Amino acid sequence: MRPTRVEIDLCAIKGNLEAIRAWTKTKVMMAIKADAYGHGAQVVGRFVQEHRLADMLGVSCIEEGIHLREAGISLPILVFGLINNRDDCDTIFSHRLTPTLVDRAPVKDLVAAARKWNRPVPVHLKTDTGMGRLGLTPDESIALARDIAEVPEIRISGIYTHFPVSDVPGHPFTPVQIAAFTDLIDRLKTHGISTGSRHCANSGAILNHEGTYLDMVRPGILCYGLYPSPEIPKTLKVVPAMALKTAIIFTKRVKKGTGLSYGLTYRAPKDTCIATIPIGYADGFPRSLSNIARVTIQGKTYPVVGRICMDQSLIDLGDDLYPVGQEVTVFGREGITAETLASWNNTIPYEITCNMSRRVPRTYSNDIPASRP
Ligand SMILES: Cc1ncc(COP(=O)(O)O)c(C=O)c1O
Repeated sequence: MRPTRVEIDLCAIKGNLEAIRAWTKTKVMMAIKADAYGHGAQVVGRFVQEHRLADMLGVSCIEEGIHLREAGISLPILVFGLINNRDDCDTIFSHRLTPTLVDRAPVKDLVAAARKWNRPVPVHLKTDTGMGRLGLTPDESIALARDIAEVPEIRISGIYTHFPVSDVPGHPFTPVQIAAFTDLIDRLKTHGISTGSRHCANSGAILNHEGTYLDMVRPGILCYGLYPSPEIPKTLKVVPAMALKTAIIFTKRVKKGTGLSYGLTYRAPKDTCIATIPIGYADGFPRSLSNIARVTIQGKTYPVVGRICMDQSLIDLGDDLYPVGQEVTVFGREGITAETLASWNNTIPYEITCNMSRRVPRTYSNDIPASRP
């Protein structure tokens, strides 16, 4: 078997969610979209439910909601994305998902589906206060909320907005958005419209903007133990849940000047030992980190040399000797983390974990004692 695997520490996810709850003292909707940021939504979702770590889950589309329901997850699930057609409305009911209304287009079909299923549907309104992606303007939100208040088939159980720069400490735009969202909520109140849960805090806002916690926070990356950006001081202690590990499958001595891997972009600066590890860009190890990344073996780091191939990469061990089968950590909970890889690759840790390919098996550890029957 190929030794390359993603290890997920469920205990870390538990600690992270508990830390977020203790920090914000409010309800938590865990963003579990994109297969739980690459961690495996079904396993993570079941675990989160079993240990009562979140009040609600957030997914990007209906398919992701179905995937969670198929794993036996019964927590409320908010779908952030659009409802596209009448079939989507039916699926919302069959799988008890909570849709987001970003405009009034689906209202008619939702009402029809509610009559068919003989029960009202809870919805969350999405207001765009400056993300510029999806959502109603504050004025449109009020108009739609007032209309829906007259419709017994639809119940507003939440209202939310999203921040584009909450992860930048001191950025003046987030307070402007908070003010717009708060103003909207106040105006809805004066119209006598109850909004249910008000939520807006993603990980950046949880760390940088205490005034955003409201009824519920909506973290993603922090739950997985990573910070949204390197500029934020690490005040809230979280532990990375994902580690990417492999093992040496081949070693050889090469002479000074030997060119290695596609393009011969690396020439051994001296006689050295080169090891091959079975991980490449098809696994999610970015090719752009060729001759940049380092990996860890027994606490010591070594450079990844030559081009990262589709399935394999090379490391320069210098004069160190390791046997075939020696474990290699590409990133993990300390030292070189997903945040380190992201900074080397001029990207964000989200992209690193989400891009772990499906062909890399996930293994899960959970050191929590089993709950009593
Ligand atoms: C609507 C919504 N809420 C919450 C989150 C969680 O964000 P983060 O992972 O930065 O905490 C996301 C992720 O992008 C999102 O799209």
